[in-house]
Formats: sequence, C-alpha cells, structure tokens
Amino acid sequence: MATTDAQPRHTPLSLWVNGEYRPLSVQPRRTLLDALRNDCGLTGAKKVCEMGNCGACTVLLDGAAVYSCLVLAVECEQRSVTTIEGGAAGNTVGALQQAFIEHDALQCGYCTPGQIMSLAALFEREPAPTEASITEAVAGNLCRCGAYRHILEAARSLAASGTERRGAGDG
Ligand code: FES
Ligand code: FES
Repeated sequence: MATTDAQPRHTPLSLWVNGEYRPLSVQPRRTLLDALRNDCGLTGAKKVCEMGNCGACTVLLDGAAVYSCLVLAVECEQRSVTTIEGGAAGNTVGALQQAFIEHDALQCGYCTPGQIMSLAALFEREPAPTEASITEAVAGNLCRCGAYRHILEAARSLAASGTERRGAGDG
C-alpha cells in the first residue's frame, strides 16, 4: 500500500515580534494571527471572524495596521510585527492604553487591542491627527459593546496632547 506523508509540510520562518527575533516553523497556510497566538504565545490580537470583517486581530506589520487573520505568516519573513503586548509606558501603544483607561473606552475589552493598534498606526504617522483621520483609522474595528463614543474621546485626548506637544516644540 502506498504511504502518504501525514505530516503537513512546515516552513522555517523568522519574524521580529515586538522587537524580539522569533524563529518559527509553520505550515504555509498558517495565518499571522495563528502564528502570533499559537506559536508565539501572544494572545492580545483576538480571533473573531477570521474573514477581515471585525478588526479584532489588528496588529502592525512594518508599522501599518493589518488584519492578521488575512495575512499568511510566511509573508512576514524578516518583517517587523507589533502587537498590543509590545506597548509600554511612554510609547504610542502605551499612551493609547492609558487614554483608553482614562476615558473608560472599553466594556468587555475584546475589541480593544485591535482598536488600539489601528490608532497606533495613525498616531505613528500623525501625532496630532484630525477628527476625520481618527474616525477613519477605527472604521474597520467593530465594537459589539458600543463603546465607540469613548474610544473616539480617548483618541481625541491623545491627539490634543500631541497638538500641545507640537505647539510647545514650535515655541
Ligand atoms: S478576526 Fe481578523 S478581521 Fe475579524
Ligand atoms: S468593548 Fe466589547 S466589543 Fe468593544
């Protein structure tokens, strides 16, 4: 009887996740989301629709917000991935986390990592974004709890502090 290779083929993969080198071995069909959650143990990016509809899985890939459920891990060879776990006080993700806390911008919190990462990509490009830019940045992130108003307030507060910082720098 002919034998079959029951083991799916794996491919070596080198990722940089939150500034750390992560050598992995993944199936070519593995998504970035599954690689982060299952192979790297980083469960901040959430797995909800897996169809690019909800934004809960949003991470930064080379600084741009992406739905990690729609990106193959093998597409990320030697690329830089930032997840919510990469946040720390003082940087953009950390500042957004603080603003979300101060403005009570979450209820169940399931959408929160994705919301913050979408906003982080915006604030990295534009330290004091306009209202329209903020709204557009989170347009692809759904919140089933309806925390939108507070999410926008949190983002606006950080945008205002960015404007103040920029004004102080100009002086
Ligand atoms: S889980 Fe990726 S967009 Fe919903
Ligand atoms: S806070 Fe519950 S889904 Fe947004």
